[in-house]
Formats: sequence, structure tokens, C-alpha cells
Amino acid sequence: MAQKIVAANWKMNLNFQEANTLISEVTNILKDEKRNTAEVIFAVPFVYVYHLSNFLKTQPFAVAAQNCSEHEKGAYTGEISAQMLASVGAKWVIVGHSERRLYYHETYRIIAEKIQRALQAGLKVIFCCGESLEIRNKNEHIAYVQNQLEGSLAELSVEQMKNIVIAYEPVWAIGTGKNATAEQAQEMHAVIRAYLKKKFGSEIAQNTSILYGGSVNAQNAKSLFSCPDVDGGLVGGASLKAREFAEIVKVYN
Ligand code: G3P
Repeated sequence: MAQKIVAANWKMNLNFQEANTLISEVTNILKDEKRNTAEVIFAVPFVYVYHLSNFLKTQPFAVAAQNCSEHEKGAYTGEISAQMLASVGAKWVIVGHSERRLYYHETYRIIAEKIQRALQAGLKVIFCCGESLEIRNKNEHIAYVQNQLEGSLAELSVEQMKNIVIAYEPVWAIGTGKNATAEQAQEMHAVIRAYLKKKFGSEIAQNTSILYGGSVNAQNAKSLFSCPDVDGGLVGGASLKAREFAEIVKVYN
């Protein structure tokens, strides 16, 4: 059975004070819950990883980075390595987010190398995939996402796949307020799970968490998370509001 996960992706938002206020507010609300069923992850900007990892180290919440270099170390000015992120307390890293594919031209190969660096550093990976509106309107979304999976995950071993979570994030739903319907999400999550079964076997397929991302909020989370192949969410804008993000986490309680 795949672990339920609700992950916040703060993206490039919040100064240090705002980040501290938000993490305190969210964790204070969630601490009052007898037990949160879902695993909760906060994907924060690089500069807050160390501080927030320390802040959360006695609490059942993990810190993720939102990216890492495809290089292990060396003359790559401005880059942050997976090893560095692990050394300051990150437990997870998002790889292949659509915004990085679009703005920073991350290819399938680069993403595959980032995944290798992350796993070698002991990080678990949230691998993002999802199609544009143009692709969906041409009804090519299934093949497109299958190609994303094959292009960056195909070389992984079954053992390595145990440290991978997949986030299906249709680009046309990110930041638009227009989330995928439950039916659209279920269709693509089932496609992803079928790919995992064919490539890595039934156990990996059953146990890999597949998250939905794209305008998740407190109103639509219950419907989206009730889909048989949806194992939680990767939440952008709504994760910047303490009460709303906590409500999304509590859908599983
Ligand atoms: O990584 C999650 C993000 O891309 C979704 O953003 O604002 O549509 O929830 P948002």
C-alpha cells in the first residue's frame, strides 16, 4: 500500500521571517491532531533548508529541497549539490518540476542524472511529470507522460525506485486555479501506476506514492485524494496559507 503524502512546495516565496511564521503556524495546527495519517513534507527554498530542518527535527515533518545539481561537486558556480542538501538536513528533493523543465531547460537526461545524485546522497525524490494544455488538447497526454517516465526513470533499479515518489502535475493546472477533475487525475495516475508495474513489477507499482499537483486546495483535496490511484498531493499556492495547508493534510485523518 502506497504511503499517503501531502507535500508543500513553497517555490520562490517567503522571506526568512515569513517562512518561520508559516512553519510555526502549520506545525502548531497539525501537532493538535492525534495522529496525522499522511506524511508531511515541506519543500522550501535552499536558504531555509538548514534552519527549518533543525526546527522540525523533533517533529514528524520532513524538509525537501526543490531542486539539486546533476553534478556531484566541483566548478559549477551557484549550484547546490544533493550531498550538500543532505548534510544540512534535507530528506527529500523535488526533481523535474515543470517550472524547471520550462525555464531552465531540464532535459530527461539531466533529470535522470539529478535523480542519481539525489539517491547517492541518501535523499528521497519527488519526481514531477505532467503535460501542457497543448499536449492534452491534442489528446497526446498519456504518451507524453509515459515518455517523461521512461526518459528519466528507465535506468533506475527496483531498489532505487523504492526511494522515488511521483507527482503528476498537469502544467495547465499549476497556479491557474483550474485543477484536474478527479476523473482526469485518476486516469493519469492509473497510467503512471501501469507504467511502474510494467517496468518495475507489481510491488513497486503498488507501493509507489503517486501525488497529484495543480491547484490543490481545501475545497477540492477530498475529491482528488479519494481517487484509488491518488496517494496525496503536491501543493503550491495553498501551502503558503497555514490553515488551508493543514486542512489539506487533515483530509487523510
Ligand atoms: O509543485 C506543486 C505546484 O506546482 C502546484 O502549484 O499553486 O497549482 O498548487 P499550485
